[in-house]
Amino acid sequence: MALPDQVKVVEVGPRDGLQNEKETIPVAVKVELIDRLTASGFVNIETASFVSSKWVPQMATSAEVMAAIRRRPGVVYSALTPNMKGLDGALAAGAGEVVIFGSASEAFSQKNINCSIEESIERFRDVAAAARAHGLRLRGSISCAFGCPYQGVVPADSVADVVRRMRDLGCDEIDIADTIGVGTPLQVQQVMARAAAEFPVGRLSGHFHDTYGQALANIYASLEVGIAIFHASVAGLGGCPYAKGATGNVATEDVLYMLHGLGVRTGVDLDAVVDAGQFIMRHLGRKAASRAGNALASRRAG
Ligand code: HMG
Ligand code: MG
Repeated sequence: MALPDQVKVVEVGPRDGLQNEKETIPVAVKVELIDRLTASGFVNIETASFVSSKWVPQMATSAEVMAAIRRRPGVVYSALTPNMKGLDGALAAGAGEVVIFGSASEAFSQKNINCSIEESIERFRDVAAAARAHGLRLRGSISCAFGCPYQGVVPADSVADVVRRMRDLGCDEIDIADTIGVGTPLQVQQVMARAAAEFPVGRLSGHFHDTYGQALANIYASLEVGIAIFHASVAGLGGCPYAKGATGNVATEDVLYMLHGLGVRTGVDLDAVVDAGQFIMRHLGRKAASRAGNALASRRAG
């Protein structure tokens, strides 16, 4: 299959990236990061998470952050909403898309959201209905689609089953997520094909973490089977508080560098993303995990 001409890159750094940082990041820094990402040209930025602040303290300022960002018309600002309390928060904050997040692994579902897969789908039912009633986009995210830190192997059938349930809840988009970054390209193509048998391939997305260094290869493998939406995190920020050892999402700069090199359009200005990455890493006091980002930054300095 020919590669798609155009890809939507969803920037998830402000949520998936920052949620794992131990030190509380000031609201103003989060806001500047998001504003820089908006200016870079993303059409979708995962901005916030309305979850228990006991579980994920870094996201406790989500409402303040969403109130202060400078929104660009046409850009969708997404927020995670595990239940109705989360949905209320996201609505009050003016999110354009809400994300229900489940898992293809029973064990991970319990650790991450404290309920079984079955119970999670029941909780999501009300969230989905309310999202639709308010005219919000609804995205479903499926963790541990390629392996689980607690149960190990996750069968493709389990992924397909959750895809079907999320489709039936009315999701506009469904993320197939490699939470701990263990997937490899052929496996990715097989799982994506199973998911695409249940849901339109053009509305599936690949959410890859780079723990084992497979993320770019997995994105390329996904492109070959028709996936045209990918999540990435500026500077490769991140990890998951409930997936020990998981490193960040694939770095946005690396994904853009590869896609642009392939002649795939993204509408995103790589140089501006490099600047945003350098900005947040200056604040965090470490070097970015983005290979392309660091290379481009040092070439400029050079
Ligand atoms: P629970 O303890 O089962 O829920 O948690 P509960 O309804 O019994 O409530 C317990 C307490 O939490 C109560 O407060 C509630 O008010 C509060 P208390 O009375 O003890 O003071 N609470 C909330 N507070 C704020 N917002 C809410 C909310 N709901 C309840 N929405 C719950 C269930 C889902 C809330 C909890 O397990 C939780 O917050 N988990 C966090 C999960 C999370 O954010 N994980 C990281 C994001 S997922 C991810 O990163 C993966 C992804 O990137 C894809 C991938 O890579 O795989 C998406
Ligand atoms: Mg993630």
